[in-house]
Amino acid sequence: MLFHMPVHSNPVMWRTSVAVWRAWRTLKLSLHSSGAGASSAPGSLDTCEEKPPHTPVMLKEVLHYLDIQPAQVVLDMTFGGGGHTRAILNAVPEATVLALDRDPTAVSLARQLAQEHPGRVKPLLGRFSELQTLLSGVDVKPGSVDAVLLDAGCSSMQMDQAERGFALSKDGPLDMRMDGERYPDMPCAADVVSTLDQQALASILTAYGEERHARKIASAIVEARRVSPITRTQQLASVVAGSFPPAVLYARKDRLHRPAHVATKTFQALRIFVNDELNELHAGLCAARTALKPGGRLCIITFHSLEDRLVKRFLQGDDLSNLDQYHFSPRKQSTRKEKLADEKKHGGTSCWLPLRRKVITPERDDVQDNPRGRSAKLRAALRR
Ligand SMILES: C[S@@+](CC[C@H](N)C(=O)[O-])C[C@H]1O[C@@H](n2cnc3c(N)ncnc32)[C@H](O)[C@@H]1O
Repeated sequence: MLFHMPVHSNPVMWRTSVAVWRAWRTLKLSLHSSGAGASSAPGSLDTCEEKPPHTPVMLKEVLHYLDIQPAQVVLDMTFGGGGHTRAILNAVPEATVLALDRDPTAVSLARQLAQEHPGRVKPLLGRFSELQTLLSGVDVKPGSVDAVLLDAGCSSMQMDQAERGFALSKDGPLDMRMDGERYPDMPCAADVVSTLDQQALASILTAYGEERHARKIASAIVEARRVSPITRTQQLASVVAGSFPPAVLYARKDRLHRPAHVATKTFQALRIFVNDELNELHAGLCAARTALKPGGRLCIITFHSLEDRLVKRFLQGDDLSNLDQYHFSPRKQSTRKEKLADEKKHGGTSCWLPLRRKVITPERDDVQDNPRGRSAKLRAALRR
């Protein structure tokens, strides 16, 4: 057992404890039998010499749509394990890359790459919301960048290291901060689940996880933390699982129709909340718009519908300045006439020209090779 399960005299707590214990045992058994966990671990920093720490998603498509020319300046806003940057450096002679990441571990990899390619990589440590200041610090003027890539979300390096607390399949402290090393006082996921009231937790799960059972899960969290603080990833996974019948634990399916754990959306919601990901994404898109020169190209890869909806509306020219009021619910189904009117309106006001009308998704073979990219969506546009 990785956490202590006190036997309580209060019947409500006892019921919770039994449910949590049962879910915990089921989770351990199911993880064991599905082979998830240790055996599925891709590269970590320790092994990065043998295999890349993160397999870049839709590499071919990104190179195609960015269409980088020799000696151009590229901004990789999400350096991560450096897969996209490395491919750009290898594919395009004399191209230089401004390599941003909020995670100090990623930026230390960017520094290594900069040594391998002298004068071609400029590592930048910070968040999207800090980008404009960082760029002016290295003398990059607004409107001077030829191509921008934003590959949102987490890297495998973050997901695979149990101690970062992102993955429900690996037991670790419930952290989830992408830059906790830089901002140790910033609240982590354990702080969120231990301090917020039930209603606030339910709102987070609904807004950022699109979790239909948000109230039930929030109530289970609040009950469980009365018994014992929730400080570990698998402890949270088992609390969530405990609020569902064992039969539905893996009833949800991912895009490859593989069973997805019932706590997946809870983890997603907490991660987005802890890292303020939607506000950051919006800040990143605005910073990309400022950095790009007219005719410059933008590629954005997202991994869930909340992000993709935001990107789609940004590229259409919607005003997203008040994200709190701007609810990222799907638009009501519009008629063909409304759609055409909408396109005409946005075609006139947006400073983006889509390079492809429809969202681009990974090819089947790519997904087989890199299942983590299964939910990726790429949008590409030209700065007018
Ligand atoms: C999916 S990974 C990028 C992987 C990369 N393209 C590669 O090929 O290895 C996303 C990266 O973006 C970083 N990131 C996420 N949000 C960020 C933000 N607001 N500001 C800066 N970096 C961010 C994460 O720390 C993570 O390293």
